[in-house]
Amino acid sequence: MCGRSVEINEVLIDEASLQKRVGEMGLTITRDYQGKSPLFVCVLRGAAIFHADLIRKVDVNLLVDFISVCSYGDETASSGAVQLIKDLEMGIEDRNVLLVEDIVDTGHTLSYLVHTLKGRNPASIRTCALSRKDRAQLDVPIDYLGFEIPDVWVVGYGLDYADRHRTLPFVAELKPEVYS
Ligand code: PRP
Repeated sequence: MCGRSVEINEVLIDEASLQKRVGEMGLTITRDYQGKSPLFVCVLRGAAIFHADLIRKVDVNLLVDFISVCSYGDETASSGAVQLIKDLEMGIEDRNVLLVEDIVDTGHTLSYLVHTLKGRNPASIRTCALSRKDRAQLDVPIDYLGFEIPDVWVVGYGLDYADRHRTLPFVAELKPEVYS
């Protein structure tokens, strides 16, 4: 194991499985948005890597923008209060918006984003998440989902613990003793 891996338990989704699933999601999204120019909204910071991979698997004339919110900070439990850190640069009125998330845990972040952006009158708003924890309670649908994952702390492929481990090429479980 290399230095950064001492905090890692088992790999939950390996690199090949990630790339395969992202490719499949790209094909589905390509089919669904044929003839449209959707705006892919990357939810910073965690979704940056997934978003970058996904948009290169989607064969339509898409646009990209970035939004940043925070509900965890360096904590391991969601505060429930989602804070807007950086807004979109583009207006979304009459646009087909696809929100791209790395993980849906409690669902607070996705719910906040959908409800906030709906108020700006997009033509449509859909959601895409690489992963969802099996405990997630959601009042908004995930239209495109990569993986259901267990309720453990996961890192890698954009996901962090206190800003560490985002650059791992796979998704892994963090050792519980690191955050408990
Ligand atoms: C993480 C993750 C999601 C959110 C999901 O973001 O990237 O946006 O939490 O959690 P929820 O479903 O319980 O709301 P975080 O606030 O840790 O910021 P980051 O993306 O910059 O790491």
